[in-house]
Amino acid sequence: MKNPTQTDAWGQLSSLSKKFNHADFRLSDLFDKEEDRFALFSQTHENLLLDYSKNFITREIMEALQELAKDMQLQEAIEAMFDGNIINLSEGQAALHTALRLPEGKNPHPEVIDCLNKMDSFVARIHSGEWRGHSGQKIRDIVNLGIGGSDLGPSFICDTLKDYSLNVVNIHFVSNIDPAHLDDTLENLNPETTLFIVASKSFKTLETHQNALTAREWILASSQNEVSIQKHFIAITKNLSAAQEFGIHEENLYPIWDWVGGRFSLWSAIGIPIALSIGMAQFKELLSGAHSMDMHFRNTPFNKNLPVIMAMLAIWYRCFFNARSSAIIPYSERLKKLPIYLQQLYMESLGKNITNEGEAVSTSTAEILWGTVGTDSQHSYFQLLHQGTEFVPIDFIAVAEPATHGFNAKERHQHLLSNCFSQSLALMKGSLKNKSTHEFVAGNKTSNTLLLKKLNPYNIGNLIALYEHKIFVQSVIWNINAFDQWGVELGKMLSTQLFNGLNSDIKDKKIDSSTKNLIEFVKVNGQ
Ligand code: F6P
Repeated sequence: MKNPTQTDAWGQLSSLSKKFNHADFRLSDLFDKEEDRFALFSQTHENLLLDYSKNFITREIMEALQELAKDMQLQEAIEAMFDGNIINLSEGQAALHTALRLPEGKNPHPEVIDCLNKMDSFVARIHSGEWRGHSGQKIRDIVNLGIGGSDLGPSFICDTLKDYSLNVVNIHFVSNIDPAHLDDTLENLNPETTLFIVASKSFKTLETHQNALTAREWILASSQNEVSIQKHFIAITKNLSAAQEFGIHEENLYPIWDWVGGRFSLWSAIGIPIALSIGMAQFKELLSGAHSMDMHFRNTPFNKNLPVIMAMLAIWYRCFFNARSSAIIPYSERLKKLPIYLQQLYMESLGKNITNEGEAVSTSTAEILWGTVGTDSQHSYFQLLHQGTEFVPIDFIAVAEPATHGFNAKERHQHLLSNCFSQSLALMKGSLKNKSTHEFVAGNKTSNTLLLKKLNPYNIGNLIALYEHKIFVQSVIWNINAFDQWGVELGKMLSTQLFNGLNSDIKDKKIDSSTKNLIEFVKVNGQ
């Protein structure tokens, strides 16, 4: 079955969705009708609780959503992914990020174990101070040069697991080609004690390449010696020859394979900044947490399967309620970067309008994903969520245990959680009818709440793998490829052409008047 709209389940879901459009429908009434709606529509896996009871769902709807998943041969697709079949059809590749987190004794990919061992010894050499810069000093600062999947994952995890940092080295992330990013970072660093990680699967990405060239000049200006590059650069790439040409010693190269997509790569050597921050043992905890979610995803029936439940709800709202966006709102300062990280994972994976067979899709695919941290978000855009005209399903994410233990931390954390819970309650219930027209809040807004017992490497591994698999499920139902990104490639190509235009006469070039005049403005004003 390749077209979800042709399934019986689709037709059934379409008619079931109508009952929620009635003016007198109240989401909160469902709680009165079903005695223990929470027990019915919540699921745990280890230290993670998903409460999905505040959704437009009944038992019948959840069953129909599972039928749709079966009709689209989801279990077969899951097996194909874990078995390493070629599922990224447009690039002829497997998508085996799950192999990066298989336990050591059970991993049939010796190259993954070799790489982990190599990372282990690198981290140990940096931490012990055995690794020295060109003037013989210990490394104190690490700068990760990478963008997209070669930046967002490690940067998000380093922030999130800040409390688990061993604090041996300072880790910095530079992604943007805007000179301000690298220049600001280097301003306070000493080239003699700084090591750069060039994180680029392709070793061709413009931003990373340009930043790496600048970093190289910065080191050479200090050392006056080409050989010093070997002491101040390592690379994570599949383009080993380009990295060696750059001057990075082959011993300092860490592999990444075709079967690891950029946005699924934090579990590979792309995770070196994480390992440098929290140490290799805790990095392996992160992998174990993800592996545990892998096993849950592969082996759990759909009605208890967290990624499947979350994915089918996302499809429900996108395809039957035309939700044009959804929000990720972590009530946790440590999870501040989660929405940005998930934006790439979700939208680069599911922003597709062509099926696996190369035909136009028959349904809407990914909505726009956005969000920022709570409670701050309550004082910016929550007004729109409560009284605006957009329907925005939300994932609230919170942690039961406070991340810090400062003065009154417990009480302040309780305020944080009560705000989180009261927002999902207010969105669902709205206000009483006897309010004035302006004060009246209609309610009937849906949300999931994901609660973690504690923020630690294992639980974070669990959480991220949950979203990875949720995305995969959506791609299977929509019959699109979650693992390519051809749209991004076009922009990359055009930027090179326009860069040439900024540096030469473009008056006679065949280029539209808008772009031509923007370039002219910069030529006149930007010097
Ligand atoms: O943004 C497009 C993209 O190809 C991402 O998928 C990838 O994570 C990023 O560029 C960086 O690519 P690379 O690791 O090859 O520099």
